[in-house]
Amino acid sequence: MKTEKKILAIGCDHGGYELKEAIKSYLTANDIEFKDFGCDGESVNYPDYADKVCRAIQSGKCYRGILVCGTGIGMSMAANKHKGIRAACCSDTFSARMTRAHNDANVLCLGGRVVGFGLATDLVELFLKTEFEGGRHQVRVDMLTALDNNK
Ligand code: RB5
Repeated sequence: MKTEKKILAIGCDHGGYELKEAIKSYLTANDIEFKDFGCDGESVNYPDYADKVCRAIQSGKCYRGILVCGTGIGMSMAANKHKGIRAACCSDTFSARMTRAHNDANVLCLGGRVVGFGLATDLVELFLKTEFEGGRHQVRVDMLTALDNNK
C-alpha cells in the first residue's frame, strides 16, 4: 500500500450523512484535503461506501479514511474486511488517540447517531494528529498484517 498524497478519504451511509457533512466543514475550515466518496443522504448500503474509501487507501490515492454510519459499527466491520485496513470505531477521545498511537489505525469510524459534532471534531483531530508510536506496537501491527495474509 503506497501513499503518495495526504488526501483523506471520507464516506458515509444515510445514518452518517449529516455528521459527514459537518466533518467536511471542519476539514475545509482547517485546510485538510479530502475526497468525499458519498453518499449524498439517500438510503444506501454501508458496505459499498466502506469499500470505496478502503480501496482509495489501498491504492495509495488517499492516506487515511473516515467512515460514518448510524453507529460506526457496520462501517468498521466492512472496512476491516479489507487487506491493510485497520479501522477503529471510536466514541471517546482516549480510544481515538490510542488507536493511532498503538494500532496505527488508518480508518476512523464514527456513529452519526452516537456522537455529536463537537465530540466528532475532537475524535477526527486526534485521529489526524496522533502519531503511531512504533516500537513494540509495530511488532503487533505486523502481526495484524500477517493475519491479513492468513499466516
Ligand atoms: C442504517 O440504518 C444503519 O443500520 C447503519 O447506518 C449502521 O448503523 C450500521 O452499522
